Amino acid sequence: MTAIALSRRTFVALGLVALAAWPATAQEQRRFYAPPPLDTVHGIPAENGMVVAQEKLAARIGADILRQGGNAVDAAVATGFAMAVTYPRAGNIGGGGFMVIHLAEHNEDIAIDYRETAPQAATRDMFLGADGKPDNDKSRNSALGIGVPGTVAGLALALAKYGSGQFTLAQILKPAIDLARDGIVVTDDIADTLPDMYKRMSRWPDSAKTFSRTDGTPLHEGDRLVQGDLTTTLLAIAEQGPRGFYEGAVADKLVKAVRDAGGIMTTDDLKAYQPVIRTPVRGSYRGYDIVSMPQPSSGGIVLIEILNILEGFAMADMKQGSAASLHVMIEAMKRAYADRARYLGDPAFVDAPTQLLLAKNYAAKQRAGIDLARATPSADLLVAKAAPREGSNTTHYSVVDSRGNAVSNTYTLNFPYGVGLVAEGTGVLLNNELDDFTAAVGASNAFGLVGFEANLPGPGKRPLSSMSPTIVLKDNKPVLVTGTPGGSRIISAVTQVIVDVIDYRMDVAAAVAAPRIHHQWLPDEVRYETGIPGDVLTELRAKGHKLVEGLGYSSANSIAVTPHGLLGAPDPRTRGTEAAGQ
Ligand code: GLY
Repeated sequence: MTAIALSRRTFVALGLVALAAWPATAQEQRRFYAPPPLDTVHGIPAENGMVVAQEKLAARIGADILRQGGNAVDAAVATGFAMAVTYPRAGNIGGGGFMVIHLAEHNEDIAIDYRETAPQAATRDMFLGADGKPDNDKSRNSALGIGVPGTVAGLALALAKYGSGQFTLAQILKPAIDLARDGIVVTDDIADTLPDMYKRMSRWPDSAKTFSRTDGTPLHEGDRLVQGDLTTTLLAIAEQGPRGFYEGAVADKLVKAVRDAGGIMTTDDLKAYQPVIRTPVRGSYRGYDIVSMPQPSSGGIVLIEILNILEGFAMADMKQGSAASLHVMIEAMKRAYADRARYLGDPAFVDAPTQLLLAKNYAAKQRAGIDLARATPSADLLVAKAAPREGSNTTHYSVVDSRGNAVSNTYTLNFPYGVGLVAEGTGVLLNNELDDFTAAVGASNAFGLVGFEANLPGPGKRPLSSMSPTIVLKDNKPVLVTGTPGGSRIISAVTQVIVDVIDYRMDVAAAVAAPRIHHQWLPDEVRYETGIPGDVLTELRAKGHKLVEGLGYSSANSIAVTPHGLLGAPDPRTRGTEAAGQ
């Protein structure tokens, strides 16, 4: 594991490049989240199970499966397929993601990796321009950025292996099929984001056809979105299982559309796609077990490293949201995100020192380097190797059932509505997940995360992610199910929800609503949300932190399991989130 030594000059240059582009919709760029008074925010109670998701119809579909006796996995799979219809910005069958499951009966924790995979024709220089420099347009806006989708295989695997056995795939898909065929009213997130993203999508005829009115303007609030081709594709999956997607007519159409648009995916790539059952990463924080996603997501490892560092500080003695509390969180984030950049990638290709990063004594060394009075400049943490990358348009939902099973699922198309291409005749909106690779050693992605050798593209490789679906256990029972979209800010957001619930004993809904901060090592700046008091900001500046207002998109839809029942926390940052209980 040889670290690449970065000169201070290179380091500063990387930081500046990193400031460049946060892929938010214009609607998000205009809007800063303003948190409500936290003592007015309370979790939504339920007795017998709950789904908290970013879109209400899909959350209710999951809750209905619970009502019919399904387990948390049945409900999670139904919600996942439904969101492919009702939340096209990130819900998907043309993308990929990660699911963490706790099964009560066998006290078993499982991670399902259904991340998109680079086609066999991928090369390490596929996202370079003729001048040998990264060409962002290729990875973000062209069909070259499309990874082989994993969602259909991942959700079907979850249902077959960990579902209750009470529902067939066709039964689980039925509500999604009905919504695609009958149509949904455009509201909430689609209404907020489609007008901004439509121009990019309407480069392709089937995208324009799917998401426009007859006069060629994008669908607006109150219009009906009917997805006939998607209905046919979902019916093929219902009838044939994943083969209905990865082989035959649908696969042929997907490949034709990708290749006609300049991409490299083949029918063999689709046929070969396999989700991977992995052992979750596991850590502990003040007597709670943290169960989260292993590589190819960096989420679980970085989350546990941050929590391990924080465990040595008396967080509960520092006021929630105070400069003292935020300072140590920022410093812990900075160190763990630097390790992310140095070490992590697809485990099939990269041999990361996972056990070291998860060790308490390693965290103790990191903690010893934190000065309580001063910010450590990121340049003093020069470690760089390996590469991270992310996108902002992911979605997370949490599920708990009456039997004590829990599912934490985060999945994505990467950018809002992915690359924007609906494959002709399929209704499938495709991802641009391969932008999560590093185009060249030292290049930064849309989120300013700098990448190196370990995350260069390669055939059959999965790009590094930040998605952090997480389940917190006490005495082997779930007490918190959480996760969020938000690209690089996923891990820091999940950290803050956990610290607020465990250290500050906050109601889960208040923890989710509380304004958040973020530091990702590079660029060397703290992003913060509106609502952090001015005197706290002044104190942080005095410690040497560079502060930038605006954190962008996240939605940490969480569930707490309390002695008095379930408490749902739909994130107030995004319109349309819902806690559907029963
Ligand atoms: N595309 C977002 C992530 O995987 O982190």
